[in-house]
Amino acid sequence: MSAGVGVALLGAGAVGAQVARTLADDADALERAAGRPIRLAGALVRDSAKPRPGLPAGLPVTDDPSVLLEAEGVDVVIEVMGGEQPALAYIEAALRSGRHVVTANKKVMARRGPELLALAAANNAALAFEASVGGGIPIIGPLVRDLAANRIAAVNAVINGTTNYVLTRIARDGASYEEALAEAQRNGYAESDPSEDVDGEDAAYKLAILSALAFRGAVREPDVFREGIRNLDAADFRYARELGYAIKLLAASRLENGAVRARVHPAFLPERHPLAKVDGVYNAVELEGGLVGWAMFQGPGAGPGATASAVIGDLLAIARAAPSGGALAYPEVGARVPILPMADLETKYYLRLRAADRPGVMAQITGALGAMGVSLASVIQKEAPEDAGGPAEVVIVTHRARERDVQEAARQLEALSVVCGPPKLIRIEDGSGVSPA
Ligand SMILES: NC(=O)c1ccc[n+]([C@@H]2O[C@H](COP(=O)([O-])OP(=O)(O)OC[C@H]3O[C@@H](n4cnc5c(N)ncnc54)[C@H](OP(=O)(O)O)[C@@H]3O)[C@@H](O)[C@H]2O)c1
Repeated sequence: MSAGVGVALLGAGAVGAQVARTLADDADALERAAGRPIRLAGALVRDSAKPRPGLPAGLPVTDDPSVLLEAEGVDVVIEVMGGEQPALAYIEAALRSGRHVVTANKKVMARRGPELLALAAANNAALAFEASVGGGIPIIGPLVRDLAANRIAAVNAVINGTTNYVLTRIARDGASYEEALAEAQRNGYAESDPSEDVDGEDAAYKLAILSALAFRGAVREPDVFREGIRNLDAADFRYARELGYAIKLLAASRLENGAVRARVHPAFLPERHPLAKVDGVYNAVELEGGLVGWAMFQGPGAGPGATASAVIGDLLAIARAAPSGGALAYPEVGARVPILPMADLETKYYLRLRAADRPGVMAQITGALGAMGVSLASVIQKEAPEDAGGPAEVVIVTHRARERDVQEAARQLEALSVVCGPPKLIRIEDGSGVSPA
């Protein structure tokens, strides 16, 4: 690495512009922190003709990647473009040429992280990705460095700011899903196409990254079961509160006899549970380590400032690691770990359905559940409205049961002539598998 640190910025959007401004505005303090001056060579964008008032004056902007990727004196490439390609190709090219890479790209790291870490190691380069999970929350560094002495057994997280904002608005203020999502978009928390967030994809990327580091084996995004929040409605939040729970989009993975089960789905968490109290765009990750016990990391999960904080933190760590960046070398993740099927999960379940309001119906419902070995902890039946004859709402909480049996029971319930439509099913996490509240 040259006396100063030459940096190329791939992407000058919300995060990239914030990184560029901070490098310019705080140059002296950052030079002291890095132990050498940091020089930003330029920024890669899609449209170089677009005015960029958010960038420091005089910063060269290009739409030709080779100008930056092959430039003399560029030691560190910061990738804040997003998307899988061409970001992945640029990261690979930078690592192959021995340049260090800092990326905020969860999609690339969740799909190709293990190969990229191996490529970095083979080229004696550092690949740092603190910003890819939890925005400004330090979690990757602690996992690979500070907690390295632990055998991590479980990771539980609320790790998508958009969905957490939406769920918080519905739970707290009675907003509808559509209203809350539109508001999140207006406030810049949700993208114009929010499907990656609301369908659980984004959380699955992040959980795959955390799981690979925590369990030291290749866990990838397709290994993560996912179910989004689109089907939740106000009634679920009402019943959750009545039963003493909050609803969160839970990202949870656990090492069980050398195999991993990783899942993202809405879950009832006891109100006293630390993750139940993480509201709005905040994120939190809790880990169960052998030595440290339960540890929780919480903070702003997104936003240009928080994300730039993580990106520049990685850059400074690389700049300080003399001279090859080797001191920042992340452990390569090991071989692929076996993935446990969701069907074998054991937990409690909340089932909500509408059924004919007449004698004998409840016996049919409990019979269908009993036939699959699913036993009931409680049943709430709300009478049909005045115009008797309409369906009544039935809310069931089960004891611990197997996912496969509960899903089959739900199919059998739907087939009953007295039940209207498919039952709603939400997993309840209040036993093992989440931290003791
Ligand atoms: N925003 C957040 O709060 C946040 C939080 C955590 C992680 N991240 C991650 O940080 C990364 C950047 O996010 P962002 O919000 O800053 O995105 P953004 O505002 O959409 O900015 C993307 C930037 O990359 C450039 N770009 C995109 N595709 C390109 C291509 N094919 N060739 C050249 N330039 C290209 C764009 O150029 P133009 O300006 O010309 O369009 C733009 O400058 C993503 O990986 C994201 O997941 C963001």
